[in-house]
Formats: sequence, structure tokens, C-alpha cells
Amino acid sequence: MRQSIDPFYVMEVVAAADAAERAGNAVFHLEVGQPSTGAPAGAIARAHELLDTNVLGYTTSRGIAELPMGIAGHIADWHGIDVDPARIAIAQGASGAFVLALLAAFEPGARVGVTVPGYPCYRNMLAALDLEAVPIRIDATTDFVPTVDHLDAASATGPLDGVIVASPSNPTGTVLSRAALTALVSWCEEHDCRFISDEIYHGLIYEGAEATTATELSDRAIVINSFSKYFSMTGWRIGWAVLPEDLVTPFDRLAQNLVICPPAISQHVALAALGCHDELRSHVDRYTENRAILLDGLPKAGMTDLAPADGAFYVWARTDHLAADSKALAAEWLRELGVAATPGVDFDPDEGHRWMRFSFCGTPETMRGAIDALTTWRLRSLAG
Ligand SMILES: Cc1ncc(COP(=O)(O)O)c(C=O)c1O
Repeated sequence: MRQSIDPFYVMEVVAAADAAERAGNAVFHLEVGQPSTGAPAGAIARAHELLDTNVLGYTTSRGIAELPMGIAGHIADWHGIDVDPARIAIAQGASGAFVLALLAAFEPGARVGVTVPGYPCYRNMLAALDLEAVPIRIDATTDFVPTVDHLDAASATGPLDGVIVASPSNPTGTVLSRAALTALVSWCEEHDCRFISDEIYHGLIYEGAEATTATELSDRAIVINSFSKYFSMTGWRIGWAVLPEDLVTPFDRLAQNLVICPPAISQHVALAALGCHDELRSHVDRYTENRAILLDGLPKAGMTDLAPADGAFYVWARTDHLAADSKALAAEWLRELGVAATPGVDFDPDEGHRWMRFSFCGTPETMRGAIDALTTWRLRSLAG
């Protein structure tokens, strides 16, 4: 079972796009959910300084004391609430925080609801940990927002022990309103089900949408976040979990035994990044411009059925009127147009062949180039 775990298919698209580039072809990269910018300048300066002044040995398993304190300050700034830093654990990215939190929260066989479409690593991670991923199918009828009706339906075949919800979501960009999130959190409390809120795309919000943190709604929720997206620090591998009291010690003990501690230099650099909002906000301005280019351009290229894209940096577009299989379509676009996009099969194994995910965290020039190529392709196929 573990030996036959599914790949994270997007990484294969990335490899195909890289191969096309190495063969001398220009590629418009809209496949990967990785900011094209690096860590903010103030954080990089801190890294240089640390190399000369700090031995950078092991830290405690929960991270350097200043970082949970800094994150508590960040949560207070963004959401106006006080969180005890003792409930904040540092980990290797949101991914590392997920593994430790899932291990701490559940015993083998526990049933955990995940939205489909949704981030594929949830179901693969759950499978690797001997937990059962219970699919919660969402679609345009609720604007890709999971509701209590979805949770009732998912628990009809057996009680749910947990539910993972991302807002803003990957791949749909959906942002849950405070009321929608509150309804899900309350349902979980009533059903003795752990609510796991993936808030990795907080800070990347457009057109007046507002992202609520589940920490504000319940101290029993598990909240996962990371420095990878808004803070533009994917490769530094720092994330965090805001844990309910009963999971603080189990999470810590698992971390001690499984990973010892998150990388020391990255923790200090992440702490510095918490003070770099001016630069980081300029990234959000660029994503806002990119989003507008795609929302305007994709319909001209024949894609009119788009998920909300209120947050994160993705547009989830229906493509089955263009080609039956989005995997074949993505391969054709890469080969003929140099446009790299991610077919939906990763995010939705059943319906994903009808959908494509476009990531808009690159440059506006990349977005314009891709839209021009796709529009020309569409006009040519209509004419032919
Ligand atoms: C929804 C979601 N959660 C978690 C992750 C993992 O992020 P990290 O780099 O912090 O491990 C990603 C990465 O793309 C993601 O899209």
C-alpha cells in the first residue's frame, strides 16, 4: 500500500516543462504553485548574518522560542486574537505540520473527510499514515464551498473523525465566508470530529474577500499554516500548527522522535520574514494583476466556466469542451504553445480530466504570453 502511493502529478508536469525548456523551447509556467520570488530581502540579510554568527545547531523540537511568539503576534495583527504561543508548534512546512498533527490526532483507521477537488497530498498522506480519506465532493452548485450537508452526507457511511478544509483552497481559490467556516467548525464540535483548517494561502486574498482563521472560532481546531506562500519561502521549509491543548504534548513527542527539530537557519529567517510585509504585499499586488489577466483572458481562449479564484493563486477552469482529457490537452499545450498548466486529475481523480488548474504566481508577462498563445490556439481550432 505505502509502496504504491500515488505521485503528486503536478511534479511530473513540472519535469515535462523543464525538459521542454532544456530542449530550447520557451515555456510559460502556469503549472506550479510556487512564488517566482524568493524570501524577502530582510529575511535573506538575516540568513547571511546567521552563517557568520550562529552555530545553527539543533533547536527544541517545537522550534526557537521567539518564532511561536512572533507567529502569535502575526495572528494578533491579522485576526485580532490572542493565541498562547505554547499552542504553536513549528514544523517542516505545512506538509511537516500535517504529518505530525495527523499522527498526533488520529489512530490507524480513523476516517478523515477531504474535499474533492482538493489538495492531493491530503489523501496521499492519509493513505500513507493508514488513515482513511473520505471524499467530500464539492462543485459549482455551492461555489466549491463545503457545507454541513456535505459533512452529513460524508458521515452517512460512518462517523468522521476529522475533516480537512483549506480556505483559500487549492485548486479552486475558494475562500469560505466566516459564516460558512463557522458552520463547519460547529458541525465538527457537535460530532466529536476534529476540524483541520489549512490556512497556507492566508494573505493571498482578492477583491474584498476575507479569510477567517479557525483559531478564532474554536480552540479545538487544528490550524496549519506555512511560510511557503504569502511569505514566499517554499524551500526554507518552515510551517506551523496552532494546536488544541490535548495535542501539544503528543505533537511535540512525535516531532522529537521523527524529525528532532525544524531547520535552525530557516526558523531564524522565518522570524525575520514576519517583519517584511511591505515587500510581501507587493507580491500580492502582482498576483492581483496576474489574476485579472487570467480572468479576462481565459474566456477569450474559450474557458468560461471558472471557479471563484477569490484567494490563493489558482484559476480552476473547465476544459472538457476543448478536449475530453485534460492530461492530453496539457501535453498538447506544452508541446505546441509552450504553455504549462496542470491537468485536474491530481486534485480530482474522478472528474479532474474535465478541468485544468492555472497558477498565477509567475510574472504578468508570463500570464500575457500564455493568454496570447491560448487565444490564438483557440481561434485557430475554431477556424479549422
Ligand atoms: C493547500 C496546500 N497545503 C499545503 C501545502 C504544502 O505546503 P508546504 O510547502 O508548507 O509544505 C501546499 C503546497 O502547495 C498546498 O497547496
